[in-house]
Amino acid sequence: MQVASLFATLLGFASASIIQNGQLRENPYPGQTPAIALDESWRTYAADAVEIGYKGRWDSKHISWWSAPGAKFDFTGNQVALGFGPQTSEGVLVAYRIAGLDWEFSNVTADSVHQFVGPETGVAAEQTTFELRVTNWAYGVQLNNVSVGVDAQLRKSPEFGKNVEIIGDSLASGQYGTYEGLSSWAFAFAAGLGNVEYSITAYPGICLQDKECYDNARGMTYQWNQASDCGARAKKVYGTSPEKWNVSDHRAADLVVINLGTNDHRKGNEVAPEDFYDSYVKLIEEVHEAWPQANIIIMSLWGTFDSKKDTYVQVPLYVRALKRVFERFRESGFVHYFDTTGILHHNDVNPKDHPTDVGHIKIASHLMQFVKLRLGWEFAASGPEVEHDTLYWNDEAGY
Ligand SMILES: *[C@@H]1O[C@H](CO)[C@@H](O)[C@H](O)[C@H]1NC(C)=O
Ligand SMILES: *[C@@H]1O[C@H](CO)[C@@H](O)[C@H](O)[C@H]1NC(C)=O
Ligand SMILES: *[C@@H]1O[C@H](CO)[C@@H](O)[C@H](O)[C@H]1NC(C)=O
Repeated sequence: MQVASLFATLLGFASASIIQNGQLRENPYPGQTPAIALDESWRTYAADAVEIGYKGRWDSKHISWWSAPGAKFDFTGNQVALGFGPQTSEGVLVAYRIAGLDWEFSNVTADSVHQFVGPETGVAAEQTTFELRVTNWAYGVQLNNVSVGVDAQLRKSPEFGKNVEIIGDSLASGQYGTYEGLSSWAFAFAAGLGNVEYSITAYPGICLQDKECYDNARGMTYQWNQASDCGARAKKVYGTSPEKWNVSDHRAADLVVINLGTNDHRKGNEVAPEDFYDSYVKLIEEVHEAWPQANIIIMSLWGTFDSKKDTYVQVPLYVRALKRVFERFRESGFVHYFDTTGILHHNDVNPKDHPTDVGHIKIASHLMQFVKLRLGWEFAASGPEVEHDTLYWNDEAGY
């Protein structure tokens, strides 16, 4: 690793900050990686190497889309570098971890090679797992290649026995969460189970119904069949003809969790309950056709918390429409209704109408327990960190 480039990188990224309730979070993004030049001490694998496991949705050019997409592989030796292609967003923040160590964070950029593991990392095992996740839905990376030490090897990481897909909007994307995608209930749920592969097909502002909502030209009943989301970045790459997502090319999901409708309900969009119902049924039928064996969980929409006289009142959305959807499929047995009412309280929602980090964790924890009781799934994340930097506690012993 070149000391000069490491220094420049650290200097360049020193301004990144997280402001929590007006206070600066100390060292919010530990783990910044230096940009390097590959030389003969490296062995490079192309982006289509079978050893690289792509998580979430990536298109045929190895460009990542939606929320918290990732890449995972095992490696031998003590060096790992990733080459990022031209479609990588400028300065995008990625989270990464080595085996079961804590998440670290690094800004990376287009047309560069970043070194994530070096001799100073102190890799202990002969073969180790490396995992990367993009933190923000609106940005992405294009993976060009992965390099390891010239005498080392890339190996395929074993996959977990189950596969989960979460379909949602900004709530599942973790918008306004501290680490965005990595602070979302969707991530905390799936990564929190600890023994499932997962894909978070979620994007802020998107409606369930196929209509223009905010900056999204199309709704989820259409967009779910495309590789990319419908954000500004996708518009730049694809215009109005995105690459199709062919479900049969990818591993089937065992469980699909849907949390959609908050945007359909909002002012300006105001989808009528009957139309919302029709779109919901359509999405469930599509998902069921794609993966006939999958269980599908409909999440009730927790809505808003209105202050009323001297208290707060939860106002959930589309309650009757969602129950009707559930009733329609109840007999078939593959659809479940997860009622979120009462999990969040008014102070679990931030001033921008999205769950706080604590709110996300509450939703995730209850959903995990629901899945355990309803489907008999076990919890397997029994040690390593899932949510980063939630270790805050009272260290004052004597009040
Ligand atoms: C790896 O990717 C980087 C970044 O896109 C590129 O500059 C480099 O030429 C690639 N190297 C090889 C050996 O493919
Ligand atoms: C690094 O990422 C963070 C989070 O997205 C961002 O606030 C910061 O501006 C980025 N830094 C650079 C230099 O791009
Ligand atoms: C989807 O993928 C399957 C399996 O690889 C293939 O048989 C099928 O032709 C593909 N469909 C389209 C429309 O590309």
